[in-house]
Amino acid sequence: MPQQPAQPLLEIDRLTRVFLSRQGLSVTRLEAVDDASLTLEAGKPEIYALAGESGSGKTTLARMVLGLERPTQGTLNYKGRPVGDLTPKDKRTWFYREVQPVFQDPFATFSPMKRVDSYLYETARNYRVAEGAAIEKRIDEALGVVGLTLAEVRGRYPNELSGGQAQRISIARALITRPSLLVADEPVSMLDASLRMSILNLFKDLRDSQGVAVLYITHDLATAYYTADRIGVMLRGWIVETGPVERVLGNPLHPYTQLLKSSVPQADPDKAWSAAPAEPPRPVKFPVSGGCKFAARCPYVMDRCRQEIPGSYEAEGRHVKCFLYEPGFSGVRPTAEAVP
Ligand SMILES: Nc1ncnc2c1ncn2[C@@H]1O[C@H](COP(=O)(O)OP(=O)(O)O)[C@@H](O)[C@H]1O
Ligand SMILES: [Mg+2]
Repeated sequence: MPQQPAQPLLEIDRLTRVFLSRQGLSVTRLEAVDDASLTLEAGKPEIYALAGESGSGKTTLARMVLGLERPTQGTLNYKGRPVGDLTPKDKRTWFYREVQPVFQDPFATFSPMKRVDSYLYETARNYRVAEGAAIEKRIDEALGVVGLTLAEVRGRYPNELSGGQAQRISIARALITRPSLLVADEPVSMLDASLRMSILNLFKDLRDSQGVAVLYITHDLATAYYTADRIGVMLRGWIVETGPVERVLGNPLHPYTQLLKSSVPQADPDKAWSAAPAEPPRPVKFPVSGGCKFAARCPYVMDRCRQEIPGSYEAEGRHVKCFLYEPGFSGVRPTAEAVP
């Protein structure tokens, strides 16, 4: 029998989430995620960074992947099954074990009044990962992956932990169900620079030794460059450029990616991406036109950009949502060095 091609781990195709907000009699429509596509293949776990300014739609996309927010339109499949169609039982017995969240602030997820190990036992019991003594073994194993032991953690309260230890324990909690995908929304932005790298290294380690894929969400291009295999750069709900991180950040093609890269401080051009993370640029509110969402800020804007929405074109080993990269474009393209 011919072998069935494996279903992707995560398949997001033209995904949109609209929020409506009422102000008096008028209703405004906001596409928090707009026509976004990305695929994580099965069998080759990778770290995919979703990067962009505050308000670009990263958390909304993450919440849809976690099954916490319903898409307005588009496809969202996990291992070939539409996440929106899963029954509460499917979610409890399968999906929530497979896809685990890691949050920004580990202390916000632990009550100061409760011992942190109680969260580990709770997760193990809720998901019925093991019985009796095997529960402790499973917890110890998950802690081992993040460089801790149950003996060290047992009986401790959150205030007895450093930020790095707390984030390790929250990652260990996520690993108890042996997930295939972690969705980590700004997981290091509350940590000191010195701890940041150790947590990011842990994600790489999980990918390499446990086969776990990671959707790493960040406003910080430097850590995305350090950590991820591929990246998608978000702008007001769109993914404007996506591909291998070395290509996209080493030589950005979309004028918006070029602008973002140029706003990262570069003390030493050879070590551009080891610089301290920049403050995210302030999200700018500007009038919505029918065309490209970057048209009002783009130094290379053309007439059609204000009227038509660009497709996502393949160029130099990545996809770019910009008319400059449409096949057959004959004008002069910007280079990263020429960023104003
Ligand atoms: N529940 C909601 N209701 C209305 N608007 C929302 C809601 N959640 C997010 N938004 C809006 O969607 C946009 C994207 O937000 P978010 O996904 O949190 O972006 P990011 O994580 O990149 O900062 C923002 O303009 C935000 O105000
Ligand atoms: Mg967010």
